[in-house]
Amino acid sequence: MSDAVLKQFTPGLPDKQDIDMGKTLRVGIIGTGWIAEYYIEDLKQMPDIAIVSGADLIPGKADAFFKRFKAEGARTYNHHLEMLENEELDAVCVCTYNTTHAECTIDALNKGVHVLLEKPMCVTIQEAADILAAEKRSGKLLSLGFQPRMDENVKMIKKIVESGELGKVYYIQTGGGRRRGIPNSTFIEKKTAGVGALGDIGCYSLDMVLYAIGYPKPLTVSGYTSAFFGANPKYNNPQDAARFNVDDFAAAFIRLEGDIVLDFRISWASHIDTPGDTIIMGTEAALRIPSTECWNGGFTAPMKLYKDVAGEQVEMEIPLRMEKPGGKGLFYKKIRAFADAVKSNTQPPVPSKEIFINQAIIDAIVTSARLKRELEVVLPVEVLEGVL
Ligand SMILES: NC(=O)c1ccc[n+]([C@@H]2O[C@H](COP(=O)([O-])OP(=O)(O)OC[C@H]3O[C@@H](n4cnc5c(N)ncnc54)[C@H](O)[C@@H]3O)[C@@H](O)[C@H]2O)c1
Repeated sequence: MSDAVLKQFTPGLPDKQDIDMGKTLRVGIIGTGWIAEYYIEDLKQMPDIAIVSGADLIPGKADAFFKRFKAEGARTYNHHLEMLENEELDAVCVCTYNTTHAECTIDALNKGVHVLLEKPMCVTIQEAADILAAEKRSGKLLSLGFQPRMDENVKMIKKIVESGELGKVYYIQTGGGRRRGIPNSTFIEKKTAGVGALGDIGCYSLDMVLYAIGYPKPLTVSGYTSAFFGANPKYNNPQDAARFNVDDFAAAFIRLEGDIVLDFRISWASHIDTPGDTIIMGTEAALRIPSTECWNGGFTAPMKLYKDVAGEQVEMEIPLRMEKPGGKGLFYKKIRAFADAVKSNTQPPVPSKEIFINQAIIDAIVTSARLKRELEVVLPVEVLEGVL
């Protein structure tokens, strides 16, 4: 994702009247890299948040980060555990690369700290199960950093499905992505990212539709991944191509409980403008969601509903729901929703039980692609029995 894209996450403006000022939340940031910059900008706008500390494995990085964002009062550490042991925190934002999501989240929950964890949840289904178990043991709140959930258009998709307007949903096509848009940094190596486009933007496309239909359990997955662009110096700069060892394209055919099939494709790079719109087909109507970078609040064209009315086939536009000018960005809203849930002891805005299914599908796509065959999805027993 480019800086231009991330700049669409306009920092919110302080809005004291909506905020419970009775308690200040003491927050720490784990991982002071790129996405942490968007966190600190928004956290600083929240009058009930004290940014107490930060940790980064790279010596000096957290100090430079707080200096740059004029939060020099925050204490810094070279490891998340050191921070968790030395600070009395209410909550942490886990902003590390994907392969350390699980350990940072589990350690924070074990210390009795609420967690807002960046996407994707982690890398493997076992890590996701371990996170859910830690959450349950701790009794603390865990929410996942899927900002599209704050988008009124994404909420509208769920409303349409839940209204019954589509009838029984039986087929979904989702995904999308870019003709060319391969990130760099820690996104392109297995040791830090774990997965490529599939985890980075695929997790959002899966969430957009699975959230709408209530996250049914996956039954089987036939997955495919490739890396014809990221690892090729013709399409990526030679230094990045040489270290690129994750996917830049993924596709899968997924059977879900309730006799629903999900046809998925996602790309960081390809020779086509987009791998396609999202469509949700039901027995009474169908919905088309034009190819969107939903992860950036990127609904640029209205959704269309197709149905028969008085015996005629009609299509109608669902008006785009736009953010109010000068209003708070989706990124701000996801952090605010987490903070409010912690303070009011209510349900997490993006619950781990849902994103666990998202992670299970990602994990199954990776394994199925490696084995080159369809797989039955076996959810860890401890999760099925104890948590889900
Ligand atoms: N929600 C969004 O729109 C969005 C956008 C971009 C990135 N992300 C996610 O944010 C995460 C971070 O991405 P990034 O681009 O900021 O990566 P980054 O590499 O710039 O920053 C991650 C930082 O975490 C540090 N780190 C790793 N393990 C640590 C540990 N145990 N303790 C302390 N520090 C540790 C690293 O040293 C690094 O500085 C990724 O999971 C990514 O998927 C989300």
